[in-house]
Order: sequence, then structure tokens, then C-alpha cells
Amino acid sequence: MAYEFKNLLVEVADGIAVVTINRPKSLNALNSETLAELDAAFAAIEADPEAKVLILTGSGEKSFVAGADISEMVNASAPEGRTMGLLARVAFKRLEDMEKPTIAAVNGFALGGGCEISMACDITLASDNAKFGQPEAGLGILPGFGGTQRLPRLTNKKIAKELIFGADIMISADEAMRIGLVNHVYPQAELMDEAKKLAKHFMLSSPYSIALAKQAINVGLDTDIDAGLKLEANLFGLSFATADKKEGMTCFLEKRMKERKFIGK
Ligand code: CAA
Repeated sequence: MAYEFKNLLVEVADGIAVVTINRPKSLNALNSETLAELDAAFAAIEADPEAKVLILTGSGEKSFVAGADISEMVNASAPEGRTMGLLARVAFKRLEDMEKPTIAAVNGFALGGGCEISMACDITLASDNAKFGQPEAGLGILPGFGGTQRLPRLTNKKIAKELIFGADIMISADEAMRIGLVNHVYPQAELMDEAKKLAKHFMLSSPYSIALAKQAINVGLDTDIDAGLKLEANLFGLSFATADKKEGMTCFLEKRMKERKFIGK
């Protein structure tokens, strides 16, 4: 199944929804129209029972996303800048909170809004030519699509400040992995296959278990450990009410784990 968008290619096949940001002439820069389309695509994938895992990538071999669209921002007023930031906040939060697993396949430059959208995904895989950075301060603005919040949480305060203050710093995929922005680095030709392999691996687990675990991790990290552990205990209890728990445990005890079938309930 394919969804129609102007700036995105969206295809669902074999349980995997691949969203490709497709503005190669501007290295897949995010303008307001693309941000709105991303929000619509994420909502459609969330609701699509055929889509079990989402992979987000950019078209071409040079760039994942080279940031927000500078040609749109150059003449934008303060309220227009704020509107653009809010549009990204809604779309990226929808991506971050999606109950299905999300994988960023970063196939080149992930700068500004590109680094920021990758951080809203559950997993980031990068090609060996990928470069990450937050160049906004070199343009007279600051990261506005989550960079000042997600980058220090994912790495640490000092690393985030160095990258954001030193706007021209671009780090390699290996360095991004070292600081916690990337799970694995692959040769570019293997990136999408590896992303699909991981997606298929996730599809062996109960989708409901994944949704609850994702909620426990995401909500828990933004609260204190005691509240997080209580949330985990409650969600752990809730998972006992599911058909998937019965299926998983029965298949284990009957030594037929390879036959297990989860329904996400
Ligand atoms: N917005 C609009 N157009 C962009 C763009 C962007 N973010 N990034 C690249 N492009 C365009 C270029 O203007 C160029 O267009 P033309 O062919 O019409 O001149 C085309 O894409 C190819 O780019 P380059 O010729 O610059 O390619 P390069 O290989 O020499 O350099 C690059 C690649 C290092 C990524 C360079 O394009 C670059 O520095 N891009 C801007 C990166 C950036 O500053 N991103 C942050 C944007 S602000 C932001 O994201 C705010 C936020 O928090 C959300």
C-alpha cells in the first residue's frame, strides 16, 4: 500500500512502513509543507494495521535531512518561526510517542532538523558517510525542532552544548554512535537492508509489549525513578491481561516458540 504525498514517499510492505523524505534538490530540507505531511503520514501509519514498524529515511545517497528549509526561514517573522517550531513539535512528538517501533535510517547529512527528527525515533542506524550536527547558531537562530531538549537528554549537557554552540562542528557516524545518538553504523549500500532486518526482528515480539515498554521508557525517563518503577510495575501487570502473554508463555512451555503468533492484544 502506498500513500500519496508531495514531499514524501510512503510505502507499506511486509509490515514495514518506509517514509522517505523526498526533496533531493534541497538535500531533503524540511519546509512547513513537509512537516505537515510528516505529521499526516505518522498519523496514517499509526492507524494502519498493516504497518508494524516505521523506517524513516531520506532520498538519495548524500543526505538524510539537511535541516529546516533555510529558504523558507530567511524572510519568516518571529510568529512564523514559532509556528514552524510548533508544527515540528507536534509531528516529532507524534513520531516519538507512536506505539509502533520507529527506526531512523540516516543515509547522509543529519543536520539541524535532520539530527532532531532522528532523535525522535526509537532507534537510529547510520550509513558510514552520515554526518550529524546542530548548525543553527551559525545561522543566527537556535535548534527549534527539539535539539535543545532531546540532545542533552540523549547524550549529556556538555556534549549538547559543545555541538550547539559550535555550530560548524559536524560529527561522523562513529562519533555519533560513541555519544549515544546512533545504535549501529553500516556501509551505505547495506543500511536499508539492515533497517528492514531489525524491523523484522521487532515484528517477532508482541506489538502490545513493545508499546507498553516504549511508554515505560519514554515516560519513565522524564520522571523520577520511583514514579518510573511504579509505572513499570503497573504496565507489567497490565501485560498479564493480554492474549499475547498467554500465547508467548504457552508457546514457551510447549516448546514451540517459533510458532507463536501475537495479535497485539
Ligand atoms: N535549507 C534549504 N536548502 C538547503 C538546505 C537547507 N537546510 N541544505 C541544503 N540546501 C540546498 C542548497 O541551498 C543547495 O541548493 P542549490 O543547489 O539551489 O544551491 C542544495 O541544497 C545543495 O546543497 P549544497 O550545494 O550546499 O551542498 P554541499 O554538498 O556543498 O553542502 C551541506 C552540503 C553541508 C549539507 C550544506 O548544504 C549545508 O550546510 N546545508 C545547511 C545545513 C544547515 O544549516 N541546517 C540547519 C538548518 S536550520 C534548522 O534546522 C533549524 C532547526 O532547528 C529546525
